Amino acid sequence: MAKKTLVSGVKPTGRIHIGNYFGAMRQFVALQDSYHAMIFIADYHALTTERNPKTLREQTIAIAMDYLAIGLNPEKTLLFKQSDVPEVVELAWIFNCITTMPYLSRAHAYKDALAKDKEVNVGLFDYPMLMAADILIQDADAVPVGQDQKQHVEITRDTAEKFNRIYGDMFTLPEHLILSETETVPGIDGKKMSKSYGNIIPLFASDDEIEQSVMSIVTDSKGVGEPKNTEGDTLFSYHRLFSTGELPEIERRYREGGIGYKESKEMLIKNMRAFIAPLRERREDIAKDTARVTAILEKGGERARERARKKMSFIRERVGLS
Ligand code: ADP
Ligand code: TRP
Repeated sequence: MAKKTLVSGVKPTGRIHIGNYFGAMRQFVALQDSYHAMIFIADYHALTTERNPKTLREQTIAIAMDYLAIGLNPEKTLLFKQSDVPEVVELAWIFNCITTMPYLSRAHAYKDALAKDKEVNVGLFDYPMLMAADILIQDADAVPVGQDQKQHVEITRDTAEKFNRIYGDMFTLPEHLILSETETVPGIDGKKMSKSYGNIIPLFASDDEIEQSVMSIVTDSKGVGEPKNTEGDTLFSYHRLFSTGELPEIERRYREGGIGYKESKEMLIKNMRAFIAPLRERREDIAKDTARVTAILEKGGERARERARKKMSFIRERVGLS
């Protein structure tokens, strides 16, 4: 049987963090054998917030290096830059013309930006249509993401259905793939970890950064002997991600009392360092050969574009543009 297609992307808007990894990116690696995987760097989407061309270029290549360092294999996964497939912008325009403003006004990202008094440019408002185009133009069956992107995948399905209803069957309805136990990794302040909130632990952090981040995790003021919560506790949620054999023991000591936050943080630092060091070293190696990384993106971009062009010619025909 032909493999199903998987599509996902990450915006090049800052350093990748453990939330990106445990929520979304580790799925890319785990699924690259069983799916026809297409993973991209969402540079068009980054333009909604990033206006420095040099920074955008640097962050784009940095994410490509991150993808390789976590274990994406370019022989198995098509790695590319979103802007190497400009057909998605054309498709997003067509979607704009069948989608209403009131419908898009319900999107969380837009409502959030309004609530926080951030600039709402038209690109930000229209963000879900471009994302729908990324997914639908490649006939994706599955979209591995974190919880915050679930609504965007639902909008993608709605848009596919609407197009199919108006113009006849054209698009596959994709499913989101969300890992329930790590769907929203908290940041060191307890809110959702995000590149834009300044509360991250970088996935490729140095030993010093790991220590600084862990020491800044916000805890309550319970003493060593007091029983502590495991549910809803940021520090403990990181133990779940990084501890090897000792999790049941840590959990017991939390519940019964007998572990202080200082000791808990020290254990976490040790385990995080052990987990991150090999990833960071692999990334350092990959970063020595930028030309290789650029070549991988170029080749992936051509192949992704080829697929998109074919699909786009059917779509143009169907809507009356050819
Ligand atoms: P950020 O919010 O840090 O800018 P992105 O929007 O680029 O991250 O998200 C890239 C991927 O990582 C998406 O699939 C998103 O759902 C996932 N992700 C981001 N933050 C988290 C988090 N704190 N927990 C789980 N998944 C996350
Ligand atoms: N919106 C996603 C994010 O903020 C990035 C993204 C753009 C994406 N296009 C996509 C994710 C298509 C999955 C599929 O993280």
